[in-house]
Amino acid sequence: MIALKIDGKEIQARPGQTILEVAREHGIRIPTLCYLEGLSPRGSCRMCLVEVANWRGKLVPACATEVQEGMEIVTQSERLRRVRRLVLEMLFVERNHICAFCVASGHCELQDLAVELGMDHVTLPYRYPGLSMDLTHEDYGLDHNRCVLCGRCVRACSEVEGAFTWGFQGRGIETMVAPALGAPWGASDTCTSCGKCVQACPTGALFEKGASTASQVKRPEILEEVTERRPRVP
Ligand code: FES
Repeated sequence: MIALKIDGKEIQARPGQTILEVAREHGIRIPTLCYLEGLSPRGSCRMCLVEVANWRGKLVPACATEVQEGMEIVTQSERLRRVRRLVLEMLFVERNHICAFCVASGHCELQDLAVELGMDHVTLPYRYPGLSMDLTHEDYGLDHNRCVLCGRCVRACSEVEGAFTWGFQGRGIETMVAPALGAPWGASDTCTSCGKCVQACPTGALFEKGASTASQVKRPEILEEVTERRPRVP
C-alpha cells in the first residue's frame, strides 16, 4: 500500500491508483470535466488540478496522476479556486456558451461547474467564433459552439463502442471534434447510432434531435456500466 495525505488526512492507496480515484474513494470532491469513469483519463481540461504541497506546491491533474508514497495533496485552497475558475473562464469564452439558448441548460456539467466555482461573470474577452452545426445524422446533432473539446465522445466511440467514428481535426484553438474524418456525421459508414457519444458529452455539443431541453438528460454513467460488464482480458 502507498501512504499519503489528502487535505491533511492520512490515507492508504493501492499502487497504480490516481489521486482522483483515491480522493473519490474517501469522499473528497475534486471537480472534473474531461474525466469520465469507464473511459481512459486524458488529463486535458485541467479542471481537476490539485496541489502537491511537498512538491513545492506543484499543480498536477488529479485524474491523470498516480499516487506516490508520501505525497501531501491539497484539493481545496484559494490558489486552486482561482486556477480552476480561470480554466473554466477560458472554456466559456473560447466558444459560444450561451446557456439561455442551449439544449443542455439545466443538465450541463460546464454550467454546474460555473455554479460550483461561483463563476457569475468572465474577466476575459469573449471570442464569439462563428461555428457551424452538423445536423446530418438522423437522430443526433452536433453543435461546435458548445463543445469544450474534452474528447469524451471520441473515447466513448473508440474505447467502448469500438466504432472509431469520432476524432479531432485542426490544431490549437482551431481544434474541432470531427465525425467520419471531417465528413458530415450522417454520411459516416462507421457510426452505429448507439448514442454513447451523446451520453458522454458533458454539454449541449452533442444532443438528441427532437428532445426538449427538459428531457435532454444525459446518462454518462452508462459508459462505466457497459465497461464494468465486459470480461477483463488479463
Ligand atoms: Fe482531469 Fe480534465 S478532469 S484534466
